[in-house]
Amino acid sequence: MDPTTLKGRSLLTWLDYTAEEIRYFLDVSKQVKAESQRHEVHRRFEGKTLALLFEKRSTRTRCAFETAFGEEGGHPVFLSTADIQLGAKESIEDTARVLGRMFSAIQFRGFKQATVETLARYSGVPVYNGLTDAFHPTQVLADIQTLEEQGGSAAGKKLCFVGDGRNNVARSLMVICAKLGLHFTLITPPALNPDPELTARCTGAAQVSGAHLRVTQDTAEVEGAHAVYTDVWASMGEEAKKEERLRLLRPYQVNQALMDKTGCKDSIFLHCLPAIKGEEVTADVIDGPQSRAWDQAENRKHTIKALLLATLGC
Ligand code: CP
Ligand code: NVA
Repeated sequence: MDPTTLKGRSLLTWLDYTAEEIRYFLDVSKQVKAESQRHEVHRRFEGKTLALLFEKRSTRTRCAFETAFGEEGGHPVFLSTADIQLGAKESIEDTARVLGRMFSAIQFRGFKQATVETLARYSGVPVYNGLTDAFHPTQVLADIQTLEEQGGSAAGKKLCFVGDGRNNVARSLMVICAKLGLHFTLITPPALNPDPELTARCTGAAQVSGAHLRVTQDTAEVEGAHAVYTDVWASMGEEAKKEERLRLLRPYQVNQALMDKTGCKDSIFLHCLPAIKGEEVTADVIDGPQSRAWDQAENRKHTIKALLLATLGC
């Protein structure tokens, strides 16, 4: 793969990328993590600027972008909706045009996928989706790195997501697994199945990569999983649905009994965080020996640095 083809690209969803391109980001991330462990100092973002637009709150994503970019001489600028117009008094198109004149790249976290797409269309600079209602692509890159740190390539491994099957993390995992050849089982009540159009697109990608994709309501299907993954039952912006979700998803809590159903003592537990202990996961699992949630959080920084390096051509 010629890495110069990544220069100038946006990351809105992994649907727009090939398996080889995703693998390139993972390889660079592994390298930058090794550099960080050797305490190497680089200045690869000197002279560059990054706008960080946030409609929703964030700990990991904001800190990963700010530290990855800033520690190498880049200038990140945090802009919440309390600071800028962004669709309030000024259209998204016009905001994009202005930011594109001042910044080397833009990160957006918010509600609509259409907003991040509009920013990419009108800014003329790389735009990164730091989470929308539809997708969370930078998260799942870190998740794959974490899975591969257990040994071997992710292709051919089995990852099960247990919980809200139509949320941004579940949808993004389905896409990246289908692209990379990971067997992905989505365990969710039928009321929370992902939309059929996305499932069909992922099924097409899975046919190319050799991934097996399954959507089921049966938690016994975690059997043989290398990794069991969950996320909050009500995502940001869905607070009004909390009671309904608790009712639907209680049987899908990841507890030790569910982890034991994998039948593999080496299977790991993953969570994008933040977690609500006692709801989607019990404290003994997320704080226990099978959990890799804290490695995942650290890997957000390395994978985001890899994304910035490749797309800014640094
Ligand atoms: N996982 C994740 O995106 O965390 P934040 O919401 O804290 O950024
Ligand atoms: N699905 C969660 C992910 C948080 C990182 C949310 O959107 O709130």
